[in-house]
Amino acid sequence: MSNRGVTFSGIRFENPFLLSSAPPTESENNILRAFDAGWGGVVTKTIGLHPVVNVVGAKAKFMRTGADDAYVSMKKRPGAALHSSWNWELISDKAIDWWIPRMQRIKAAHPTKVLIASIMAGSGNDKELRNWQLLAQAVQENGADGIECNFSCPHMDRKDMGSNIGKDEGLCSVVTEAVKEVATIPVWTKLTPATRDIVVEAAACFRGGADAIVSSNTFPSLPIIDPETLEFEINVDGLVSSGGLGGPAILPMALANMAKMTQAFPEKAFSGIGGVSDFAQALSYFLLGAGTVQVCTAAMLDAAIGPHVIQRLNAGLDAFLERNADKGWTSVEDFRGIRRDRVVLQSQIRRPSESEYEGGYEHVEGYATPEQAETVS
Ligand SMILES: Cc1cc2nc3c(=O)[nH]c(=O)nc-3n(C[C@H](O)[C@H](O)[C@H](O)COP(=O)(O)O)c2cc1C
Repeated sequence: MSNRGVTFSGIRFENPFLLSSAPPTESENNILRAFDAGWGGVVTKTIGLHPVVNVVGAKAKFMRTGADDAYVSMKKRPGAALHSSWNWELISDKAIDWWIPRMQRIKAAHPTKVLIASIMAGSGNDKELRNWQLLAQAVQENGADGIECNFSCPHMDRKDMGSNIGKDEGLCSVVTEAVKEVATIPVWTKLTPATRDIVVEAAACFRGGADAIVSSNTFPSLPIIDPETLEFEINVDGLVSSGGLGGPAILPMALANMAKMTQAFPEKAFSGIGGVSDFAQALSYFLLGAGTVQVCTAAMLDAAIGPHVIQRLNAGLDAFLERNADKGWTSVEDFRGIRRDRVVLQSQIRRPSESEYEGGYEHVEGYATPEQAETVS
């Protein structure tokens, strides 16, 4: 019998798959549709105290690449495959007062589904820390099962907000502690990958009392410049600013961060994000020790909330458990983290024996064969 359920940071999920904080969770209607489609949980689009105004024109676009030319571009071309998403969207343009009645209605309609509220404020002074607390109290009193603190938005000018918190271990622990002081529900912190060693910030969040770490938000990036027009593929009046890369392109980088953190804190709870569109990618996160997985880009491209994506994730998990039933695996917990310890120092990786060694030349794609190398030298 299928057993998709997990308990993560003390919260029971019917399956370990969530929509991450992003356009798929920006409205009541989207979230209701997502729950009807089968998602175990959602993290709301990040909520602040005040409304924000986005740039003119597109807030997010998708980059695709061709099989023959590896040209990465936002231009749609026949046969091109998805490479990534690029966005410079701010947090929800609806503030907390707009969200409160909607969260109440969502929770009433789906009491068994998990509603996590993503929140964000500044961190420069006590008043800002109090704002985090006000937001935390407002969401927990109005239907949220958990709080996700956004320490990771990559396009904030303010030095005390978004990923600028996630890059500063002091701020990570101070803000987490402030939220924990008032929280009666689990508190997750979502970290930025744009940091030298994400383990440092994860440790700071745990010191502040975080119940789980969420990784990753998008990677800082620019759209490419069109070779014909010499303009960025997304721009306003010719100008662009740093945005965030998501989707398939970031999966290996996000996994590397996940492995670092789960090795450093094997007993803690981690939610994996980045490049998940099917069970195969979710499995990598689980095998490295994550307990839940979140999705944005793939869901945006699938009727805005990912009805087929969640079907594939659930079916993939069921099939995986069935295939491995002989190992006694009946739930994610049985295989979670079993590849965590396979990530080791370079010096611990076996070298070839002397007879196998071909002067550093290999019969693999991208390298000269030993024979070619000899002809040249
Ligand atoms: C258009 C867009 C808007 C986003 N807005 C938020 C946000 O408000 N808060 C947040 O924590 N992450 C936000 N994200 C990041 C996603 O939740 C997710 O961490 C990231 O896209 C990586 O996952 P993916 O590879 O599945 O897209 C946004 C991403 C996109 C593409």
